[in-house]
Amino acid sequence: MQIFNHIAEIKNYLRKEQKNGKIIGFVPTMGYLHEGHLSLIRRAANENDMAIVSIFVNPTQFGPAEDFERYPRDLQRDVNLAQQAGANVIFTPDVAEMYPQGYKTYVEVQEITNTLCGASRPGHFRGVTTIVTKLFSIVRPDRAYFGQKDAQQAIVIQQMTKDLDMDVEIMVCPIVREKDGLAMSSRNVYLNPQEREQAVVLSESLALAKKLIIQGERDAFKIKAAIVDKITQKPLAKIDYVSIVDAQTLKDIHHITNRVLIALAVKFGSTRLIDNIIVEV
Ligand code: PAJ
Repeated sequence: MQIFNHIAEIKNYLRKEQKNGKIIGFVPTMGYLHEGHLSLIRRAANENDMAIVSIFVNPTQFGPAEDFERYPRDLQRDVNLAQQAGANVIFTPDVAEMYPQGYKTYVEVQEITNTLCGASRPGHFRGVTTIVTKLFSIVRPDRAYFGQKDAQQAIVIQQMTKDLDMDVEIMVCPIVREKDGLAMSSRNVYLNPQEREQAVVLSESLALAKKLIIQGERDAFKIKAAIVDKITQKPLAKIDYVSIVDAQTLKDIHHITNRVLIALAVKFGSTRLIDNIIVEV
């Protein structure tokens, strides 16, 4: 496996492979890899000639009061895990390599970045779309793999690649969960034992919402109320948002038809967790 820190070097290496006809699968990450990330890497390795993984904690997608500085990092562990999952190349640049002095360009997707996580984290998606664009122009992947865990991020990236005519196929992969249902996240390490125990309410409340819809409930307001009610039974949980939206447009829905995305963000202390489910009727 090859590890690169510099843009010029990985470009040089990959262009040769691409000239030889190699099909490239790419998994962008911020590291501290868990089974969710590894499921994407395994798929990228299975479906392409080469799997490239980037590990870069991207400062531009963190707000000033967010956890950029304390975001968990363990490169050696990540390198081993990525290699075991089938990665051929790891790209792990430092901040000055990606944003050198005098950096001035940002990529912004409108409207669908203003709701859900975009409403609570102003500027977050601008940072995501900027770094993903940069990574795509460095790697030039045939396919790029994203998790349904970050449902809005996957939709925003799909919109961006479509709007900017990028030659990359976006593959969205299922959420990987802990045994009790908690969606895996690098941020789960922030939770203390009580918070960790109560955090299971996120997936439980989504399962309840799905059950209500299957039983025939179509009023989004009532479903939302049931979710909020369940979450607020946990004293350490503070709801950021609970939303029921069209799974394509991310617009609020009142009466449930077709495919809906039920998405939520809940804080435990200073740790903000997200989860979601897509329900088709
Ligand atoms: P990060 O949070 O490290 O996640 C990298 C990829 O792993 C994302 O596509 C995310 O949706 C996916 N992922 C995370 N947890 C998952 C889980 N439990 N199941 C399935 N997939 C999961 O998302 C980012 O990094 C960044 O915003 C990035 C795209 C790298 C840009 O900086």
